[in-house]
Amino acid sequence: MAYVDVEMRGSVCLVTLRREKKLNALSTALEAELDSVLGSPATRDAGCVVLAGSGRAFCAGADVTEFRDQDAAAIMRYYDGVGNLYERLAALPAPTVAALHGYCLGGGLELALACDFRVAEEPTRLGFPEVGLGIIASSGGTHRLVRLVGPARAKELLLLRDRFTAEEARELGLVTEVVPAGGALARALELAERLAGLPAPAVRMTKRAIRLVEDAPRASATLVERLAYGMLAQTPEADAAARAFVERPRV
Ligand code: COA
Repeated sequence: MAYVDVEMRGSVCLVTLRREKKLNALSTALEAELDSVLGSPATRDAGCVVLAGSGRAFCAGADVTEFRDQDAAAIMRYYDGVGNLYERLAALPAPTVAALHGYCLGGGLELALACDFRVAEEPTRLGFPEVGLGIIASSGGTHRLVRLVGPARAKELLLLRDRFTAEEARELGLVTEVVPAGGALARALELAERLAGLPAPAVRMTKRAIRLVEDAPRASATLVERLAYGMLAQTPEADAAARAFVERPRV
């Protein structure tokens, strides 16, 4: 692939954006490659997926040079196809961790928000430049941002703030952890290994349940939890964990 690298590190799948000269700007060609990676067994069957960017930035957003000359039909085709990759990323069964450095802007931030966890280096600059460009964050980012920080903060970030720091993002709950410059990938891989070491059926079911209960009334959410428990309690992983506890060495 020209713009996306995929590397297995044990059961962790590391996906790296490689369009360094353009700060990993999301051209349709890059997005198409990322989309095909997200549909591949490497990411589907991984214990965890880490998403990173090579060069100076995680990602400087949608490729601004591709904005123009798109009619309504072309835009619809985009969202029905490659443009849906942000939803596919959010729906991956395996947990996902984004490793952020340099810039994380626009579509790059939408991509990061579609992941389950975000580790950002301290100097990372995040932001949504869309409104200033006359458009809107439209790859799920507006909705995810409102869910994460609430409507008032979302308005502030989308309309009033050109850029914000990794630490501000952490305080708002947009970023899981802030690490010193140069440390995001190593820390993301550390978290990924921890996630990949947990019983996979329970991790995947919990991720799926969180997604579902977000919008569900309490009675439905409770039923989902109980049904999920009913399945998980019968897995060999749950049996082995309970047995290990009962048979643990005692002093
Ligand atoms: N789309 C297309 N190309 C982009 C890009 C984007 N979103 N972001 C950066 N690039 C390109 C630049 O055009 C430049 O290419 P060139 O060397 O061929 O001219 C290269 O990447 C490096 O960017 P440059 O602007 O020279 O780096 P910088 O360190 O001075 O500035 C940014 C970095 C991120 C502040 C600046 O590139 C920027 O503002 N990018 C646009 C961000 C944006 O609006 N994204 C959201 C779109 S919705």
